Amino acid sequence: MAYETIIVEIDDHVATITLNRPDALNALNSHLLQELAQALGELDSNDKVRCIIVTGSAKAFAAGADIKEMSEKSFVDMYLGDFFEPATEAVTRVRKPIIAAVAGYALGGGCELAMMCDFIIAAENAKFGQPEINLGVIAGIGGTQRLTRYVGKSKSMDMHLTGRFMDAEEAERAGLVSRIVPAKQLMDETKKAAEKIAEKSMLASIAAKQAVNRSYETTLTEGLLFERRLFHSLFATEDQKEGMAAFQEKRTAQFRDR
Ligand code: CAA
Repeated sequence: MAYETIIVEIDDHVATITLNRPDALNALNSHLLQELAQALGELDSNDKVRCIIVTGSAKAFAAGADIKEMSEKSFVDMYLGDFFEPATEAVTRVRKPIIAAVAGYALGGGCELAMMCDFIIAAENAKFGQPEINLGVIAGIGGTQRLTRYVGKSKSMDMHLTGRFMDAEEAERAGLVSRIVPAKQLMDETKKAAEKIAEKSMLASIAAKQAVNRSYETTLTEGLLFERRLFHSLFATEDQKEGMAAFQEKRTAQFRDR
């Protein structure tokens, strides 16, 4: 499938989606969001793909939703078009692990897209922010909810109310990003992480992702029960037998997603 606003590459078991609107710092317009949704759906059902990376350019992961496209829209347009629910759904529906590799600006919808991925690896020059307040609006793709869960109320309020940017170090300290790497090594390091994930049993990866995500949605008791049920169910898999046998035989496990 040929896309106009993203580039999709599959290298062995790792797929990389590169946002590709360089003239607009990868601003998320409807066309890009629709292509991103389609690509994610296709990669999620492609048996060869075991981990997905979403990235942008060295200057911008994405500088937000496309302000030029949005500026003339009315309440009715936004409400009836349900901006930006279809895009959110498309990202959060993906069962395979998704890593956001962020260099440069991840602002507004760009920060929100990165937060919808399973974790964020940031280049040293990454800058995160929810500057929608400067435009007379607020975040609309989950920023007020997800950033607060990542970094807590005080810092989230600060980001949303002042519109200031957070650099990579602050983002790592606050728990928004999992690790920082030198900008030149961003893709190599992210691919290494993705390849590590791709070696695991997909059954266990999906279960881990579901269980962690559940912690956002439920009480501790229910979340622990959900985790325990998934944990127990993995003992019905060949991959559990293989993983534990390989440990004892001091060899690398060969998982078959069975
Ligand atoms: N939408 C549309 N175009 C954008 C854009 C955006 N979010 N961000 C940048 N661009 C465009 C600029 O208009 C410019 O295009 P032209 O050359 O045609 O003028 C081009 O990208 C390069 O941008 P700058 O010249 O501004 O580059 P800079 O290096 O001077 O500044 C920046 C970079 C600080 C990121 C600045 O571009 C900026 O502040 N961008 C807007 C950030 C923002 O407000 N994001 C939130 C959007 S709203 C949102 O996302 C809502 C939501 O939650 C759903």
